[in-house]
Amino acid sequence: MSTRQKKLWGGRFRKPTNKMVEAFTASIGFDRRLYRYDIEGSIAHAKMLAKQGIISKKDEKAIIRTLRDILKDIEKGKFVFHHEDEDIHMAIEKALIARAPEAGGKLHAGRSRNDQVSLDLRMYLREEIEETLNLVAALKLQFIAMAKTEIGTIMPGYTHLQKAQPVLLSHYFLAYWEMLDRDEERLWECSKRVNVMPLGSAALAGTGLPIDRAYTARELKFPEVSRNSMDAVSDRDYVAEFIFVASLIMMHLSRFCEDVILWSTAEFDFLEISDAFTTGSSIMPQKKNPDVAELVRGKTGRVYGNLVALLTLMKGLPMTYNRDLQEDKEPLFDTVDSLKGCLAIITEMIKHLTFKRERMQEEASGGFSAATDVAEYLVMKGVPFRESHGIVGRLVAHCLEKNREISDLTIKEFQRFHEAFEKDIVERISVKNVVDARKSIGGTSEKMVLTRIREIEGRKK
Ligand code: ARG
Repeated sequence: MSTRQKKLWGGRFRKPTNKMVEAFTASIGFDRRLYRYDIEGSIAHAKMLAKQGIISKKDEKAIIRTLRDILKDIEKGKFVFHHEDEDIHMAIEKALIARAPEAGGKLHAGRSRNDQVSLDLRMYLREEIEETLNLVAALKLQFIAMAKTEIGTIMPGYTHLQKAQPVLLSHYFLAYWEMLDRDEERLWECSKRVNVMPLGSAALAGTGLPIDRAYTARELKFPEVSRNSMDAVSDRDYVAEFIFVASLIMMHLSRFCEDVILWSTAEFDFLEISDAFTTGSSIMPQKKNPDVAELVRGKTGRVYGNLVALLTLMKGLPMTYNRDLQEDKEPLFDTVDSLKGCLAIITEMIKHLTFKRERMQEEASGGFSAATDVAEYLVMKGVPFRESHGIVGRLVAHCLEKNREISDLTIKEFQRFHEAFEKDIVERISVKNVVDARKSIGGTSEKMVLTRIREIEGRKK
């Protein structure tokens, strides 16, 4: 057996690993992205071992120096990864032992790859959550900026994708701000559970060596230490939770993209996406397609897939660590990459949208979107809502029959439906007044939307 092929766990084996098995079981192809955390974790572990008198100061120094050299080599692209090395933990430990034979072999005392892999993954994920939080914050700011710019723009609001009631475009943007605000909170919550230090749980039962886990946690800036070694080595709740939070964010982005796609059609014609953020068709010269928005919508399915993959991976696992758990990394990495990529491009894409204010306003007034307000007008005159609902229903039917809009009716015609109608009904149902009437908390009036913007901007970070 060549030294390259020699396994660190090879002691009890009489035959070398089958080549197919080696290739099949290797995770080095994807878990190498954890190298930095693996090295940082090992340095903290070495310090702890020395502090506890389990290894000498001299060995600690040699280990740390060599690990730092390995880190530099990986970063410079000088470190060669071999799939016979199985995973990133083995690759680094093997290189350490090759470069510092005497000290290197002492590092793995009091730990196992089972707790090591979870440590690396938690360190990776807490960093990625921080980056994701920054991206979410940037997108929220963009929605606020647009809400301020478009404060005068009225658009038709929809339910069932049928024209319902006029709303401010700013109110629509702030709806996305609210969704992203909840996403931000969920990311924070999730990071609390990611930020728990599992090292020292060893294979599953802890170690008989006199380790100091609280010290390792402090070194690695973990506020919590895991409390059950069996749970610690087999827990992937934090991965599932993150992918779930990511799925919700993607769902929010996807819904926004769906509106962008719809609104950019000739049929809606509410917005234009600038050329820089659209693509053409290879056959139809006239086409300008919203591919960025479509791809974000598409990638949402992929992230949901990752969530289902992870949950399915976990559901039948006997306690404690099982090699199945190696399959947690690709769905997680793919989720992180997809999510960050989508958040960044959507924040940019939004800057390339032009909203067609007049067209939106024009569409906002048609389609009996003031009908509820006519009914509410009667309510204020003392007519019970159910009764006024029926009256306005008949009024709408009449308009449909005569091919007219409510706003075209004369006061005489209004009064044919109820004597409580007075001249001010005409003014009351202008699009602007319909919007501005919605003055209670959460409503779409300009007053309430501006209040919300002020609240948001005044909020402490
Ligand atoms: N590559 C493995 C994983 O990603 C590391 C832990 C391996 N542990 C073991 N006992 N084989 O889960």
